[in-house]
Order: sequence, then structure tokens, then C-alpha cells
Amino acid sequence: MRTRMPAQSDLTPPDVTDIEAVIRPFLALEGPLLPMLHALQEAYGYVPESAYAPLCAALNITRAELKGVLSFYHDFRTRPSGKHVLKICRAEACQAMGATAMADRLLKKLGLEWHGTTANGAVTVEPVYCLGLCACAPAAMVDGKVIGRVGDARLDTVLAEVGA
Ligand code: FES
Repeated sequence: MRTRMPAQSDLTPPDVTDIEAVIRPFLALEGPLLPMLHALQEAYGYVPESAYAPLCAALNITRAELKGVLSFYHDFRTRPSGKHVLKICRAEACQAMGATAMADRLLKKLGLEWHGTTANGAVTVEPVYCLGLCACAPAAMVDGKVIGRVGDARLDTVLAEVGA
């Protein structure tokens, strides 16, 4: 299994040969696009634009179709993330417990939109649609670790911990 690489904002995007090596094992699958995208994100931390042409050629799809899939699935990144990733649940149970307003306050405080990264590269804030922690809503996740009953104060602590 590949290890997720750190944020690559200052690295050269992977070249086509490397991209093709990542997607090749999935060519024989039925419905290979999502496994390919997951593999690319796992390899690089995001789906680099340099992968678009090889993906479209391999699957005989248009760039518009590919971008539609990338924008439909919120888990796929199209640019490198910050050093840490904070996900805030935006699904119903968390919404009912104030997650929307809490997220709005957080984003405003950081001066970010969803999927944005702080200027120092410390954290990227992303939406997620249910973390399976509905009974402890509102829920969040930091670098894969879930946090229940999160509020402004807890988020402030998280931001301090990740250096945002
Ligand atoms: S709705 Fe937020 S964890 Fe399920």
C-alpha cells in the first residue's frame, strides 16, 4: 500500500509516466475511475492536473466528465493539502447540532473557503458528509482522528495544536 505523501505545494507535479504507473493496475477493472482517483490521491495527497490527460486517454472520457466526477466526490482534492487536514461534518445530524454556524465561524476566523489552506500551510479545512459519529454531533476529524461534540473552543484547541 502506498503512503500518503506530505503536502506538495512546493514540489513539481508528478509526470505522466508516474501517473500511468499508478493508474495502470486498475485498467482491467469494471468502473476503474474511482479506484484510480483514490490511488492517485493516496500516492500524491491530491489528484494532480497532470493526471487528467492520462486518465481521459486511458478511460476514453472527456476532461469535463473527469472534472464532474472530481467535483461530485468531496473527498477528492485537486490541489495539495496543508500539513494537517481538518474535516467538519456537514451532514444532517451535525447540522441539527449547530455544525453549519460553527463551520462558518471557523472559516471566517481563518479567512478560508471550504478546501482552503491557511497561509502558513498548517491546515486545510474540508467538508465531510457523516463521520459515523452522529450521536456525538457535531463531529470533526483531524488527520483521520474523529472528534465528537466539537465546539468553537475545541476547534480553537485543534487549530493551536496544528499550528494554524
Ligand atoms: S451527521 Fe455528522 S457524524 Fe453523522
